[in-house]
Amino acid sequence: MLLFSIIVTVCYSLSWSTSLLIQPKADSCTTYNHPQYGIGQCIETSKCPNALYISGYCESQPANIKCCFSLNPVERQEFRAIWIATATNIDWPSSKTATTATQQNELVNILNMVQRLNMNAVIFQVRPAGDALYSSTLEPWSLYLTGTHGVAPSPIWDPLQFILTEAHKRNIEVHAWINPYRARMKGATYTPAATNMAKRFPKYAYTYDSQLWMDPGSKEVQEFVLNVAEDIVRRYAVDGLHIDDYFYPYGDGTEFPDSTTFSSYQQQGGSMNKADWRRSNVNYLIESLYNRLHAIRPKIKFGVSPFGIWKSGTPAGITGLSSYDSLYCDSRLWLQQGTVDYLTPQLYWAIDPPAQSYNALLNWWIGQSTKGRHVYAGNAAYRMSQATSPWAVTELVRQVNLTRTMSNRLALGNVFFSTKQLMQNVKGIQNELAKLYTDKAIVPKMNWL
Ligand SMILES: *[C@@H]1O[C@H](CO)[C@@H](O)[C@H](O)[C@H]1NC(C)=O
Repeated sequence: MLLFSIIVTVCYSLSWSTSLLIQPKADSCTTYNHPQYGIGQCIETSKCPNALYISGYCESQPANIKCCFSLNPVERQEFRAIWIATATNIDWPSSKTATTATQQNELVNILNMVQRLNMNAVIFQVRPAGDALYSSTLEPWSLYLTGTHGVAPSPIWDPLQFILTEAHKRNIEVHAWINPYRARMKGATYTPAATNMAKRFPKYAYTYDSQLWMDPGSKEVQEFVLNVAEDIVRRYAVDGLHIDDYFYPYGDGTEFPDSTTFSSYQQQGGSMNKADWRRSNVNYLIESLYNRLHAIRPKIKFGVSPFGIWKSGTPAGITGLSSYDSLYCDSRLWLQQGTVDYLTPQLYWAIDPPAQSYNALLNWWIGQSTKGRHVYAGNAAYRMSQATSPWAVTELVRQVNLTRTMSNRLALGNVFFSTKQLMQNVKGIQNELAKLYTDKAIVPKMNWL
């Protein structure tokens, strides 16, 4: 990794360079206060294997006595995260009717695993379908938390507040993950509560592919989604706000029924074709979120995890669904314009088959980040558990290794989908991650925030 090599370079230049501007001197060979690295301890180098910087300044001592900056080390920077999906209880809570105590224990167990594996962030789904896994006056409580859409948990508690408190105690970042336009999951049959988007804006709520989906072209709906996101960032100490791949829904072979909204756009003088207009609706949401969330809290990290292929055929040799044409996601533009702080393309394919090669895609994505925004790869842990051609765990290990070879070009970490495979230690994934993440790393710094 680049960050590791910087450390090595700094170490050598401090030790051996004669042109050093500030020549630090060890006070004694017991402790040493380095201007950049803080307090180190001068001990035998073989006794400080985790030291990230070893000085050469204890001249009066035998050569093996050096300052080991293991107390205040320059930390490695790598985003090491999991998605915690709540939609249909994919990861958490294990049951929508489990008691509050059980649900809380499960969250603590997840965070304990994240901490034990030296990982440093969770992306927690708080709004799977125009509902809330947090206390909200804007939207109804989620079915997936309480068993009944619109009904508060009993005893009352706030999962987002709870995970924030528990995660921050463990030095783990929490990114609140919202789905912007889905109003009810596929197959769900409950009647949406009066505060659900579908009831607030019925003329923009469509049944599509057995889901309830809001029209991303509706100004009222856009504004409401922006308000929901702002409300979260105002009231909760979330480290980030995150959106996944769903903007316009994945197609079911029929046209998304937004012709009325498009016609009124045209009647008001709009000249874009329908596909460009749809993309502009999504771009508007992304740009507005970026600006408005940062206006509330300048250091909030805004990230999106789009479908991993921007356009089929890009880069050459890649074929697959085109997020640009099918979901109206111009995700490359967001990296180029810097309207995201990080992008986590869902690179849910293996390395070797060329059609959707993990590293060909990752290599392409980082090349698009012309504003220096971070790229954290999304990795498909779930593919170890799939029925047909399940992955070996080494596929994921190789993917992390490959990501690290590109860290000098902004590939700064990995996000695993999903929590479940890690918690169940499928194919020994925990043991493999423990080998990859042998010591702590801080989340990569975003110096533009
Ligand atoms: C991943 O990288 C580590 C550290 O360099 C190495 O020991 C390991 O063999 C690699 N694993 C795979 C599957 O490539």
